[in-house]
Amino acid sequence: MNTNQLLSESVEKLLAWYPAHARDLPWRQDQEPYHVWLSEIMLQQTRVEAVKGYYQRFLQALPDIAALADAPEEQLLKLWEGLGYYNRVRNLQKAARQIMTEHSGVFPGEYAKIRKLSGIGPYTAGAIASICFEQPTPAVDGNVLRVMSRILNDHSCVDLPKVKQRFTEQLTTVYPAGRCGMLTQALMELGATVCVPNGAPRCDACPVRELCIAHEQQTVEQLPVRAEKKKRRIEHRTVFVFLCGDA
Ligand code: ADE
Repeated sequence: MNTNQLLSESVEKLLAWYPAHARDLPWRQDQEPYHVWLSEIMLQQTRVEAVKGYYQRFLQALPDIAALADAPEEQLLKLWEGLGYYNRVRNLQKAARQIMTEHSGVFPGEYAKIRKLSGIGPYTAGAIASICFEQPTPAVDGNVLRVMSRILNDHSCVDLPKVKQRFTEQLTTVYPAGRCGMLTQALMELGATVCVPNGAPRCDACPVRELCIAHEQQTVEQLPVRAEKKKRRIEHRTVFVFLCGDA
C-alpha cells in the first residue's frame, strides 16, 4: 500500500470513529468562527479542562467580534486572568479590530486571509478554515505530528519544519470534501485521547490500529522522533503566600 492509500484508508476509519468518541466540549457545539478561534487560542499552552470555564465566561462577557474589538484592556485582562501568556488576548483583540476594519466585521473564510490576522499561525488558521469553512487545510500540531509519524512509521525528526511541511502536504491530499472539519477534530481527538504522548498509547482502542505501521512494527513508543531538548535551568526562589481568612 502506498502512503496516499494508507492515509486515505486511515481517514475513513477516523471519520467513522469520531462521532461516537468525540468529547463533548463547549466549543464543539457550533462552527461559528469566533467561537472556534477563541477556543483554539485559549487551548494553546493550556489544558482542555482549564479552558472550559474561561471560554464560557469570555463569551458571556464578549459575545461577538464587535464586542471583543471594543472591550477595554482591563476587562480583557480580567477575563484572561490565570490563563497566562497575555499576548494571546492582546492579539485576539488586535485581530478582532482587523476583522472590523478590513473585513466589515465578518470573519474571513479563506486560509490566506485568516493567516494574516494577528496571533493566528498555520495551525490555528488550518483549524478555523477546516472546521468553520470546510477547507482542506490540516491543522498540524504536536498531536497530529505524533499520529502521522506513527501511522506512517516515519522516523524523521518532527521538529524539522520540512517534516511538518511534508506531513501537512500528505494530509492535504487526503482531506475529504465536506468532512474537512470533522477530520481536523478527529485527528486532534485521536492524538489527545488514544495516540497519547506520555505513557502507553491506547492502541487497543485505536480505530487505525490495523493500518498503523508503527503498531505492526512495534515502534509506537519510539515515535515521534524529537530533537534533543535543552536542559532545564533550575532556579531557586522564595515564595510568600498571604492568607486572610479563607482568601
Ligand atoms: N487542542 C487544540 N485544539 C483543540 C480542540 N479544538 N479540541 C480539543 N483539544 C484541542
